[in-house]
Amino acid sequence: MEIINRRQRMASITRKLRRENKTIAFVPTMGALHEGHLALVQEASKRGDAVIVSIFVNPTQFNDPKDLARYPRDLASDAAMLAEFGVDYIYAPEPHDIYPEGFATYVYVEGLSESLEGASRPGHFRGVATVVTLLLNTIRPDFAIFGEKDAQQLAIVKRLTRDMGFDTEIISVPTIREPSGLAMSSRNELLSPEDRARASAIYAALHMAENAFNSGERNASKLTQMVENALSADSDLTLDYVATVNADTLEMVEKVGDTGSMIAVAAKIGGVRLIDNVRLGRGQ
Ligand code: PAF
Repeated sequence: MEIINRRQRMASITRKLRRENKTIAFVPTMGALHEGHLALVQEASKRGDAVIVSIFVNPTQFNDPKDLARYPRDLASDAAMLAEFGVDYIYAPEPHDIYPEGFATYVYVEGLSESLEGASRPGHFRGVATVVTLLLNTIRPDFAIFGEKDAQQLAIVKRLTRDMGFDTEIISVPTIREPSGLAMSSRNELLSPEDRARASAIYAALHMAENAFNSGERNASKLTQMVENALSADSDLTLDYVATVNADTLEMVEKVGDTGSMIAVAAKIGGVRLIDNVRLGRGQ
């Protein structure tokens, strides 16, 4: 496994891989790797001859400088983890390599970036779409792997690859959960043990609504309300939104179809913002 810091070197390696007719599977990350990322890497290993993982804490997707400053960073331990998973290259650029002096070009996916997370984190998805475009352009992978936990990001990345004509297939991997049901996230490390236990209520509420859906409930407001009611019981949890939406367009649905919808939640616990979702009717 090799760690690459420069964009030009990364691009020249991937050009060589393509000349050798090797397929490339790419996992973009911001580091602080956990089992959720490793599931993405495992999927990448199944798909590509070569696996590349990027580790870059992207400043343009943080609208709160404090959040950027406290984002966990540990390249050495991330690299040790990835070495065990058969990763071929880690691309770990410095901010100036991605955003050189005078950088002025941003990518914005209209219609998908404003609601849900976008409403609470203005500019976040412009930063995500921009860095993902830059990374896909440098690496030009056959497959790029994203987690379903960041459902809005996934919808945006799918749309941007389609709209920009990238020759990359976007593969999504279901959310990996802690035994309590809490979705794996680098942010979980910021929770106190009490708050971490409290945070399992998010998936418990989503799971309850999913069960109601599986038992035939198709009224989106009832499913949404069920999650809201369950989560408003804890005064130490501040609910930002609960929404039942189409997973691709992120439009609100009234009557939930047999597939294609999800219930998404964002809540703050102990000052840490957590998101989660369940897909309704997967595999039906
Ligand atoms: O999901 C993430 O970790 C980031 O948003 C991504 C896709 C690596 C872009 O910085």
